[in-house]
Parts: sequence; structure tokens; C-alpha cells
Amino acid sequence: MNQTNSPINVVVLISGSGSNLQALIDGQQDGSLPINICAVISNKPNVKGLDRAEKYGIAHSVINHKTFDSREAFDAALQAKIDSHTPELVVLAGFMRILTPAFTQHYAGKMLNIHPSLLPKYQGLHTHQRAIEAGDDFHGVTVHFVTAELDGGPNIIQAKVTITPTDTADTLAKKVQQQEHVIYPLAVKWFAEGNLTLEKNHVVLNGKTLDSAGYQLEKII
Ligand code: GRF
Repeated sequence: MNQTNSPINVVVLISGSGSNLQALIDGQQDGSLPINICAVISNKPNVKGLDRAEKYGIAHSVINHKTFDSREAFDAALQAKIDSHTPELVVLAGFMRILTPAFTQHYAGKMLNIHPSLLPKYQGLHTHQRAIEAGDDFHGVTVHFVTAELDGGPNIIQAKVTITPTDTADTLAKKVQQQEHVIYPLAVKWFAEGNLTLEKNHVVLNGKTLDSAGYQLEKII
């Protein structure tokens, strides 16, 4: 467990539906995750993820990037809001903004992201379609520590899904999301229990340095 044996404070950033947020709320509720989600912040108003926070009595707010003149100004406001909650961990759960290096540096080793591809493959958008068009046999999802490089890793954990001949971007997205809701809570649990750290840009899990692909979930769907 972590040094105090108590739940760690987590701030979750979202831009949309918040199904990954829900997986973390579920873990907090059923006691499997030693976390206290102290705030949910969205850069978009009126998204479903905010309703989820409301339902569970979690503090939630919108910082609309469209009301800022620059990326730096938005990130500074976001950082101030996050830090007002003094989180030990910041979780990007479908948060669709490119972040400035100053922001990512501020949370070095304390901020996680989930990306729907087997990184380093398919950084950026439209990952499911790109995997199909490339004729890949497998696709998947990666949880990684956030650095200045967009979707750049370092990887913590990956889960694979099989691409079948009938798969479309939509069916593939559904399979990938199923895996997302398994591996994100797992990575957050490792971090919250003090077993996952970033050391000199290498991921250390239970005292062992992981290779660049990260921990591989055995179950492939
Ligand atoms: C997920 O597919 C995640 O991988 C991507 O954005 C989506 C967010 O989904 N970065 P949700 O808002 O958690 O439902």
C-alpha cells in the first residue's frame, strides 16, 4: 500500500462520455480502488461525464478551452483548478486536448492517459480506422504516463483485441473500450498502492523496470 495506507486524491479530466471515469468511480465505490476522486474537470460543457460526477456527489466543473486566447492560458487555469484539490494523481480519461510542455512537466510522474491503440502505433486520432486500413491482426489500448510528447508513453499497460474481417471502426471501438475499463482501473490501483512509479522516463512496477511496451494483459478479446 501507499505510505499512509489511505486512499489517494485523484482529479479526473474528461471531454465526453466518461465511461472510463465510471470504471474508476465503480472501483472506488466497491472498495477495489484505494482512491478518492476529489474532482472531475471537463473542457467541454454539458457532457455525460459531468452527469456521472453529479450523480455520485463528486465536485465537478467546466473550464471551456474556447474561452481562452491561448493554449498556455487555458493550461494555466486548468493547472490552478487541479492544484486547488491537491491531488496525488491526475487521470486523463478521454480528455481531448493537446497539453503544453510546462503543464505536462508540472505533473511529471503523476499524470496518466489512456489511448486507444497499441502505442507507439497510431498516436493521435482515428486509431480504429487506421488499424483496419493497415490490415493489422490486432488492435488495442495503452495506459501511459503523460510526457510532453502527445500519446508518447512511457507505456504502463496494454490490452489487445483481435481485428476480425467484419470489424468496423465502431465495433472495434466497442471491443477496445471493454479493455479500457479493465486496464485503467488496474493501472490506477497500482499507482494508488504505491507500486507504480516513473523513474528517469522508465516505468517501474513492483520494483521491476518494464520494457517499452509496458505490462501486457493476457486476456485478448
Ligand atoms: C476512450 O476511447 C479513450 O481511449 C479515448 O477517449 C475515449 C474516452 O471515452 N482517449 P470515455 O469518455 O471514457 O467514455
